[in-house]
Amino acid sequence: MQLVKTKDNSLTFHNKEYDETYHSISGALEESYKKFVGPSKVSDNKAILDICFGLGYNSYAAIKTAKHLKITALENDKEILNLSQTINIDDKYEIIKQLSKDFVYKDENYDLKLILGDARQTIKEIKEQFDIVFLDPFSPKKCPELWEVEFFKEIFNKMKPDSILTTYSCARIVRDNLQKAGFQVKDGPCVGRRAPSTIAIKNSSSTSLQ
Ligand SMILES: C[S@@+](CC[C@H](N)C(=O)[O-])C[C@H]1O[C@@H](n2cnc3c(N)ncnc32)[C@H](O)[C@@H]1O
Repeated sequence: MQLVKTKDNSLTFHNKEYDETYHSISGALEESYKKFVGPSKVSDNKAILDICFGLGYNSYAAIKTAKHLKITALENDKEILNLSQTINIDDKYEIIKQLSKDFVYKDENYDLKLILGDARQTIKEIKEQFDIVFLDPFSPKKCPELWEVEFFKEIFNKMKPDSILTTYSCARIVRDNLQKAGFQVKDGPCVGRRAPSTIAIKNSSSTSLQ
């Protein structure tokens, strides 16, 4: 796996199998704050589902932003979890590194759990409901299975009324599938490119199409 320095000076890796980087090269950490954490309105006392945890930057940006968070993270590749041990940012990223190593982390502010395995299966083990979901797979072209309606319905059913999902993709197929699963979809911010990211809302009145 090749280490890549992105334009905001934060580090990411290039995955050979997918031929994609784990983050936007316009700024890895910038992407976490501006496409995931900001638009999902992360604040104290939220329950977050971080799908495709990777180096854990989205969870990291969340714990930099708010306290008393409960985060459940899903990831299927041990190699990227091990590579997070080579990244040094600050004391909050040390929490992410500990989570990547031990699969649990708990202190007075953060209750974090990481489940290893295919997210399409591991999501079924989860009993709780979430206020916020970060959806961050590789691109729809390279990893279509994590952008399908069936998976989106599973996510939808794990979300509380009036909860928010954020994702970097604005692909037509992604937005159509989110809508088919019951979400209302709108543009997120444009960061590092002209296209917007996507914000998907589960309204209190919406129900998943079974
Ligand atoms: C774009 S990267 C995510 C970057 C990550 N959010 C971060 O901050 O580093 C996509 C991630 O999805 C993971 N992944 C791919 N297929 C998966 C699956 N079926 N279940 C769970 N994770 C998967 C990859 O291993 C990779 O870590």
